[in-house]
Formats: sequence, C-alpha cells, structure tokens
Amino acid sequence: MSSKLSTFICQNCGSETSQYFGRCLNCNSWNSIVEEIKSKRSNYQEIKNSKKSISFNEISSKKISRFTSGFMEFDRVLGGGIVPGSVVLLGGEPGIGKSTIVLQSAGKISLNEKVLYITAEESLEQVKIRWERLNQNSIDLKIFAETNLSLIIEEIKRLNPNFAIIDSIQAIHNHEMQSAPGSVSQVRACSSELQNLAKENNIALLIIGHVTKDGALAGPKTLEHLVDTVINFEGDNISSHRLLRSIKNRFGSTFEIGIFEMLDEGLREIKNPSSIFTNKENISGVTTTITNEGTRPLAVDIQALVNKTFYSNPRRTTTGISINRLHQILAVIEKHVGIKLSEFDCYIATGGGFEINDPSSDLGVAISILSSLKNIPPLTSCTFIGELGLSGQVRKSNNLRTKIEEAVRLGIKNIVVPKLEEELNNNFQNLINIKEISNIKEAVDYS
Ligand code: TYD
Ligand code: MG
Repeated sequence: MSSKLSTFICQNCGSETSQYFGRCLNCNSWNSIVEEIKSKRSNYQEIKNSKKSISFNEISSKKISRFTSGFMEFDRVLGGGIVPGSVVLLGGEPGIGKSTIVLQSAGKISLNEKVLYITAEESLEQVKIRWERLNQNSIDLKIFAETNLSLIIEEIKRLNPNFAIIDSIQAIHNHEMQSAPGSVSQVRACSSELQNLAKENNIALLIIGHVTKDGALAGPKTLEHLVDTVINFEGDNISSHRLLRSIKNRFGSTFEIGIFEMLDEGLREIKNPSSIFTNKENISGVTTTITNEGTRPLAVDIQALVNKTFYSNPRRTTTGISINRLHQILAVIEKHVGIKLSEFDCYIATGGGFEINDPSSDLGVAISILSSLKNIPPLTSCTFIGELGLSGQVRKSNNLRTKIEEAVRLGIKNIVVPKLEEELNNNFQNLINIKEISNIKEAVDYS
C-alpha cells in the first residue's frame, strides 16, 4: 500500500521514477535515487463540488499592487516591485552576495512593512555582525534563526509578515522526511509547503537557493517551475560588480537586469551601468556595441585580440559571447570580406566579461576582429549595431530606437546601424551621425 504513495527522485537531476534504480536513467549518476513518500491526497468525494469553472467576465480585474524592495535596480528586475503573495526564487553561487542584498533590502522594506528574515545558515550573532556592517537603521526587522520547517511555518503564521525571506532553502529541513537538508526531495517539499503558506496568507516570500554554474546543486533548479519569479545573482570573485537577472517573471518582463557593486558596506546600485562596461579610449581591437537587456539598453565594449597562430588548429576563445557565434562571425568575414583567418588565433572578451545574448553585437565583434588584425583603431567615438546574416547582410536589430537614444545619451558621435525607417532617421538627425549599412563590407569600409 505504501509503495503506491512512494516516488523515487534522483538527487542529481531531479527526475522521477516509480521504482528504485541504482543508476539514474536520465543523468546516469550512481546511487542518487532516493525514495520520497507522497502525502495522501484528499479524497475526491470531499473536494467534489467545492469549486466551479467561471467565465472571464465573472472574474473581477485587480491591479497588481506592489511594494518597493528599497533598490530601484531590484524593483526593475522584479517588474516594478514585490507583489504580495508572490514567491521569488533568488539563485546564485555561494558567496556572491545573496544574503547581503536580501538583508539590505529587508532592512529598507521593514521601515514600512512587517518583514521576517529567516536565517537557516547563520546564527543570530553572525547576522548581527553583517547587519552592523551594512549600516541599516530599521529597528522593526524580525530575525529568526531556525532550520526546522515546522518551526519556521509556526513563526510565519504567528507573526504574519508582509514579506518573509528564507536564507537558504538548502539549509532547512522537513523532519518528517528522511533525506538530508539540501537534497532535491527536501528542497521541493519545503518549498511547496512554504509556497502554500505564502499564497494562503498573501505573504510575499523570497527563497534563496545556492546554484552553481555547472548545475551541481540541482535542488533550486527543480523549483523554477513552481515559483512566480526566478532571479539569478551573478558576478565573479574578481570584479566587484554584481548582476541581478530575471529568468522567469509572472509579473514582469524577463531578462531584465539590475547592476550593483559590492563594497565594504554592502551592495550599492549602479544607476548608469553603461559607464562600467565601456572604456572610452580609442584603441585597436576594441569597439562599443549597445545591447538590449530586458527593457534597458546597455553599452558594452567588445575586445578582440587576433594573433598569428603557433598551433595547427588556431585558438578561439570567448568571454561574454558564445563561441559558436564567434565561429560564425569568422566564417562570414572570410567569405564576405575576403580575409583569411585560418592562420590566426582569435580571442574575444566583452567589457567586464558581461554576458551578451543580443545578436546585434555581431557587427561589433566583426569590426573588433578586423581592427585587431590590421592593428588600426576603429573610427573614433563610434558604436556598431547589427546582426550578421550568413550571407554577409546586416539584419535588423530589436529596439533600435532605444539603442540609438542610449548612444546619444552617452555622447557617442557616430553610430553604424542596419537600414532605418525614415521616421527614425529623421528623429536623430541632429543628435548623432547615423551610418546605415546593409552588409558587412559597407561597415568595414566605413570603420
Ligand atoms: P554573502 O551575502 O554572504 O553571499 P551568499 O549569501 O550569496 O553566500 O556575501 C559574501 C561575500 O560578500 C563575502 O565574500 C564578503 C562580501 N561582503 C562584502 O564585500 N561587503 C559586505 O558589506 C558584506 C556584508 C559582504
Ligand atoms: Mg548567504
């Protein structure tokens, strides 16, 4: 009888099977399957007739109300602020600054709302040391140091806050389950109980989860479909810049980014981010492009280093853009500009290692490569925007208007773009020198 209520979950990839296997059928890892006992579902007879389907005009439309996180950059990523009753998953590598940003935010929110910060990883004294370092002045923020899910739920019910934070989901456990804290089963079970509690009581809940780049900690990944919003906190240990990036958002647009700097007294938001990814010097191998991250345009430098190779296979590496894109751009240059690159190594790095997903950065990459190859700086104060098609044409770019506006705002004098609609060209005529091109050859001749 009990076997009917059991399911077997791989702790590595989260896949589910109905029986035990020594090796996961999905990810092939050994001894990673753990039995999970499902709680008994309510009887069909009991829930019958409790709800009926309705049509849209019977549903009252409600404007989403939000409260601020205390950081404009954080609010932007959330789609305008925190939505009561919503569940946000904040993921990121250990040590990146998740507890720091959340504690700063909790301090600011608690000036207006009832906030409960649940620390399952650090003691009250450790949190206090961090708190003092962050120079916060709220006296109403409530802290609760606990790892047991039942006690956490009891405290949330008792206090009934507007905003609750779990730091982190991997450190708490449901004592009715045998698996260890941080295992996929525990992470899923604890999250769904907390989520139900949050929805029933209209509490905004922020769950912190450690996620590594190689996905070695699978737990939080398996929660992504469950929560309303998934935000990643990114950065590296060398630079002090940190990026908040929304991956999923039921209440706003995705791929929105917020940029911060980690200082001794915590995180500071950067309101003019284009300045940190560009270096206005005019040197060979460097161009500036403007990409779109969510709703915001962002200027980023693209650096190329092209050297004669000593290897039988030339080396190609990238930081910030995908290696496949680089291979494609090199092939387009060979074919449509007529320059042979098979004897050259080619290294590409974006300013600050910023990850660019917008294909309109292709043109900037191509011009940087050619500039480094010839050892001649590109045109002074010029930015390049356009996606390269395989036949050498420069394709239209999304949100070109906001990109040109950003170039104007930054005081850039020249901009190379795909063919514009007349109205757009007229709008900017006196503000910036716009060069419209239709293929890579024209861009190379101009640069
Ligand atoms: P933390 O928020 O503990 O990371 P996470 O919760 O994601 O594991 O951040 C830890 C790092 O941040 C640590 O290396 C110290 C640094 N830090 C600062 O540089 N300034 C600060 O004010 C604070 C609180 C931390
Ligand atoms: Mg932490």
